[in-house]
Amino acid sequence: MRARPAIERLRAYPIGGSREGKIRLDLNESNYGCPPAVLDALRTLTPAQIGRYPEYEPLLQRMAAHYGVTPEQILLTNGADDGIRSVMQSFIDPGERLIVTDPSFSVIRLYAEGMGAAVEAVPYGDALAYPVAALAARMRTAPRLVAVVRPDSPTGSLISREALCHLLSIDREILVMLDETYHHFCGDSCLDLLADHPNLLILHSFSKAWGLAGLRLGLIFGAPTLIETLRKVVPPFSASAVAVAAAHAALGDPDFVTGVVTQVQQEKARLIRRLTALGLNVRDTATNFVLVDVGHNAPDVQRQLAARNILVKSMDHYPQLAGYLRVAIGRPEELDAFVAALRHLLATDAAGR
Ligand SMILES: Cc1ncc(COP(=O)(O)O)c(C=O)c1O
Repeated sequence: MRARPAIERLRAYPIGGSREGKIRLDLNESNYGCPPAVLDALRTLTPAQIGRYPEYEPLLQRMAAHYGVTPEQILLTNGADDGIRSVMQSFIDPGERLIVTDPSFSVIRLYAEGMGAAVEAVPYGDALAYPVAALAARMRTAPRLVAVVRPDSPTGSLISREALCHLLSIDREILVMLDETYHHFCGDSCLDLLADHPNLLILHSFSKAWGLAGLRLGLIFGAPTLIETLRKVVPPFSASAVAVAAAHAALGDPDFVTGVVTQVQQEKARLIRRLTALGLNVRDTATNFVLVDVGHNAPDVQRQLAARNILVKSMDHYPQLAGYLRVAIGRPEELDAFVAALRHLLATDAAGR
């Protein structure tokens, strides 16, 4: 059975085989657990909570107070991925143009192309500075939508607030989707910009600093009219009752996220020091991952690490990141195992030359 032509042309997001029991540094999840109160909340879920469709109103009230917005400005989604899909489905017609950096989070392109959008990629230069000027120039050609990931993935680059405001002001008819999945790690969210920018949608995820990737919970923030539009395509009960209970518990423990961010930053600095001492070039980022230049066949290094049950992701398919591995900041012992395995591989490689 043939699918829509736009779908036939796509390649599904590669999930790969089982990752069970392996050291998982490949998908930028958190290996630092979740707030203990979340586990308590899940243990005490009642049959009524599970047997009924989820109750969103109390959570939306609580989130509105937490994030400094109104409940009408928030939509719960099944992870930020679901948020991206919903934005594309709601706002892009076949043939309309979406602007996004290249590289950026691949799911944005996937869902935009699935809607038949014409995706125009604005490439990063070799220094991997956020390509603000090129993006601004492209925005002057009146695309339908611009996707900004802050901090970006996989480059880890951070567009400044000032530059973002500049983009937002170029043309208020252009919708800007700001993906803040990694915002905890750069210490800055732009939710306050919603008040002055009716063309802005902001996506959050509970998959990273909150450590709830398995539960699948995301948020879209925007003007009430935009959220009303999105409500037409987001399934009525996109976030499960389990995710709702977890979110209530998580928001009661904001210190948890601060603690995770501090640990990730410390471990990131330690990892960079040790890899640099091995003579490797490491790119620090404003996220929970780093980019390590292994200087030669990165896919092969990825495979050899995987054979030792250590999962990282080669970035070789992006010209600007050729030779790089993306490595999430896991727990100290996981990073120790990664450094030891990499040191061994590099030593074996050097001896074999
Ligand atoms: C930039 C970016 N946005 C969105 C997502 C998806 O997040 P979620 O797990 O909430 O669907 C990811 C996942 O890695 C990501 O890197």
